[in-house]
Amino acid sequence: MTSPDPNLYLVGFMGTGKSTVGRILAQQTGLTFLDSDHEIERTQGKPVARIFAEDGEAKFRELELAFIEQGHPAHGCIVACGGGLVVPPGRVELLKSRGVVVCLHAPIEAVLQRTMRTTHRPLLQVENPEARLRQLYAQREGIYRATGTMVLTDSRPMKEIAAHVLRIYRQETRKAKK
Ligand code: S3P
Repeated sequence: MTSPDPNLYLVGFMGTGKSTVGRILAQQTGLTFLDSDHEIERTQGKPVARIFAEDGEAKFRELELAFIEQGHPAHGCIVACGGGLVVPPGRVELLKSRGVVVCLHAPIEAVLQRTMRTTHRPLLQVENPEARLRQLYAQREGIYRATGTMVLTDSRPMKEIAAHVLRIYRQETRKAKK
């Protein structure tokens, strides 16, 4: 009997292509694509921006933890994780205990280009979103780097990046089965 496919968790800063890469990979592999933000929105019945506004960021972080601990299948999923999901201590280790973790990364300029015109991210609904982004990026970069496996997403087509991530996923899966 073959063992089930481990989950693949795509982590990284906002605007690094987690959902795009995750969807391409799900199509290619037949694994189920999940987006942690969308799953939380579905269970809470309201958008992330309203959760932040009505319940606060700390509550949202608890919901992210609950999603990881009991809100998704243990196997067979590709999960695009919200940018802050791995920020609280212990989260990266938790994800690694549940599957393969790959961090998508892009320089701040690319992140700025990809996110500045969007309106659905509550952390950027401030007077100076660029300053806020730069501050969060600086605060979090070390956490993303410490995940161990980083793939740059700003200099190649997303399809190539997806192929690269798939190679890492398959390598890690083989290692885990040995
Ligand atoms: C957040 C990133 C968002 C979403 C929320 C908070 C963050 O997800 O979870 O707005 O703290 O970086 P994306 O990374 O998909 O934009």
